[in-house]
Amino acid sequence: MSEAVSLKEVSKSYGEIQAVKDLNLNIPTGIVYGLLGPNGSGKSTTMKMMLSLVKPDSGSISIYGVDPQKDPLAVKRMIGYVPETLRLYEFLTSWEYLEFLCVIHGLNPSEEEPRIKEFFEAFELKGHENEMMGGYSHGMKQKIAIISALLGKPKLLILDEPLSGLDPKSAKIVKDLLTELSKEGVTTIFSTHVMEIADAICDKIGILYNGKKIVEATPAEIKKMANVPGSSLEQVFLEITGSSELKPIVDALIGKSDKH
Ligand SMILES: Nc1ncnc2c1ncn2[C@@H]1O[C@H](COP(=O)(O)OP(=O)(O)OP(=O)(O)O)[C@@H](O)[C@H]1O
Ligand SMILES: [Mg+2]
Repeated sequence: MSEAVSLKEVSKSYGEIQAVKDLNLNIPTGIVYGLLGPNGSGKSTTMKMMLSLVKPDSGSISIYGVDPQKDPLAVKRMIGYVPETLRLYEFLTSWEYLEFLCVIHGLNPSEEEPRIKEFFEAFELKGHENEMMGGYSHGMKQKIAIISALLGKPKLLILDEPLSGLDPKSAKIVKDLLTELSKEGVTTIFSTHVMEIADAICDKIGILYNGKKIVEATPAEIKKMANVPGSSLEQVFLEITGSSELKPIVDALIGKSDKH
């Protein structure tokens, strides 16, 4: 199937606040799609509707042909999700937690062990397997959340700000992983409010602003638009252009600082 995700005229309000307005999205299989937009623009709400965690007020959603409202379980089985607010079991070790997730996914933990070990190695978590996650740093928890999203070998990854708290090297590892998975046909939807991050990672970008999609294009096309002085999008681009704090991450993503 060529289309992984399709949203038609989807809207969602929380009381007075209209979080998502008449949103249309068509995301082809196997690409990394960036949902970009400033804080409060509707990125997380859009993702949660794809996962059936939030019910749209109107419009229709299809995930590989399945409506999340009609068959939430089938949709959840296809998706690996990293939420923006992590909820890990603080009193489990990461190893116990991942073993538990294997069981939930119907996988045999001992068969998955080599793959999990590879992830621990890549993310420099080796040696922390038997520590309770309550003592982990934010970045370490984020890495565990990314590993858990990949455990069930999902066809679709929904990653809500997955690089938050990661160091440049780990951010680059996530990027390379997504590129690799994309080659295997896995589709990724990735949210960020930083233009440079979306630019470095995504094949296609949709910019949300006040719940509406105002632009959809490739990163190269978007950069061209951002450079048009006096364009009506100028304010939006200013809000999502990024910050100097993230420069090391962006440099790592675009391959400027591979040395460590
Ligand atoms: N559970 C909720 N109850 C009430 N309002 C909500 C709820 N979730 C989101 N909103 C509102 O909906 C709007 C869109 O929020 P959303 O979290 O989707 O934005 P976002 O683009 O993910 O923002 P951020 O970059 O800060 O994560 C915001 O105005 C937010 O305050
Ligand atoms: Mg959000």
